[in-house]
Amino acid sequence: MKKTEIYRPIIHFSAEKGWINDPNGLVYENGNYHLFYQHYPNATHWGPMHWGHAVSRDLIHWEHLPMALVPDDLGAIFSGSAIMDTDNVTGFGDGTRPPMVLVYTNHNLTSKKEEQSIAYSTDYIHFTKYEGNPVIKGIPGGNSRDPKVFRNPVRGGFSMALATEDCVSFYASQDLRTWEKTGEFYCGEHGLCGICECPDCFPMETPEGVLWVLIVSMIVPEPGAGEPVMPGNRMSHVTQYYVGTFDGDRFLDTQGSPEPLLLDYGTDSYASVTFNDAPERIMISWADNWDYANESPAGEEGFQGKMTLGRKLSLVETSEGYRLKSEFCGLRETLCSGTELSGREDASAGLPVGQAVGVSVELCAGGSISFANGYGEALKLSADEEELVIDRTGAGRSDFSDRFASERTGVIRIPRKERGALGMEIVLDRCLMELAAEHGLTCASVGVYPRMAYDRILLSGIETARVCAIGGSAGRERES
Ligand code: FRU
Repeated sequence: MKKTEIYRPIIHFSAEKGWINDPNGLVYENGNYHLFYQHYPNATHWGPMHWGHAVSRDLIHWEHLPMALVPDDLGAIFSGSAIMDTDNVTGFGDGTRPPMVLVYTNHNLTSKKEEQSIAYSTDYIHFTKYEGNPVIKGIPGGNSRDPKVFRNPVRGGFSMALATEDCVSFYASQDLRTWEKTGEFYCGEHGLCGICECPDCFPMETPEGVLWVLIVSMIVPEPGAGEPVMPGNRMSHVTQYYVGTFDGDRFLDTQGSPEPLLLDYGTDSYASVTFNDAPERIMISWADNWDYANESPAGEEGFQGKMTLGRKLSLVETSEGYRLKSEFCGLRETLCSGTELSGREDASAGLPVGQAVGVSVELCAGGSISFANGYGEALKLSADEEELVIDRTGAGRSDFSDRFASERTGVIRIPRKERGALGMEIVLDRCLMELAAEHGLTCASVGVYPRMAYDRILLSGIETARVCAIGGSAGRERES
């Protein structure tokens, strides 16, 4: 970490240099979580996409690995997934370890044609592109991207969820090389309409047996001037999910929620996908927003973009139906071990600069929390019985984009699901705050660019609060 860096997160993943967007190829093998990601190493803005690669054993500490995939004659390397070919059905194995197979989109930057291709490795570091690529040919002129492969428990073999314009198409394969189309799911019939990106489809245990979740990131039409913005103040990009079944051919939305279900109500979470082959269902999202990611001040530090923490998902029954619940991976003990503060009136504590900060709090209705610095900047959270409000209009730099923290985009109003005190876990990691409230049923990721690090937390109207430092070098002593 360079001395001048104030935005590079401590415990959230960021690339060593250059641009990143979507997490790709999330896959687990032998205790290792592999994170591939959309990467343009030569600049801090989007460019011809490569797949960067990192690995972690705890989802907090990441080791950077060599570039996994670079653009080729078929195009740039857009988003996709990875799976362990444990039975060597591809025949890519060499008798040592099962092949790890990457399934990705080749995007031709001139014709915009999008085709699906595969690559493999048995050392899980160096990847060979399959000579028979593409394995699914492009539909001329149409978006057809971001393949997510998963095991098909009905037909055996594998299925793929593919983003194709306003629907998710499903394909099936026994060997990951030859694919046949088996069905479609139209997102707008059940939730928000728009262009689909980065689908994910997976089973989850519930007391009623297995239910399936379909996640879809979506470019939705922007609300016009004067029209209400979407929940979470999203202007155009949002990630929603559906709960239902998978019949072996396609996903079916059996829950039929009257409201679109959002994975994250913050401004900075997109392209959320989960790990294949992991013992638990863990999700990572790109913690940025296409509306302003190319312009954000992190680029001054040589990197642009970061990922959310790993979030362990479970499906829980609520009075409104099944909902996804999230828990930050690897932080439970740390968050419980913080310095305890209390005060229905006011409490405050110094924050360790140079480390991430964890806050575990029960906020009374009418209570508030601010992360503040000596520059007069503050990121503010407040709650009443109806909503949780996150205000970043005075949190720091915002002049790089009028879509970042205007009156309309900088105040995020999240409808509450529960009444009374609001239980929340907050992780503030320099230019990113993530929170999981209401037992993990309400999550929000919000980017901030303070001119100086926040060095103080101010709380009012709290039942209890614990504040702790997470990771990084030794910081300043906490006071209360
Ligand atoms: C989503 C996305 C994907 C595409 C990738 C390109 O953020 O637009 O649909 O594969 O980014 O970088």
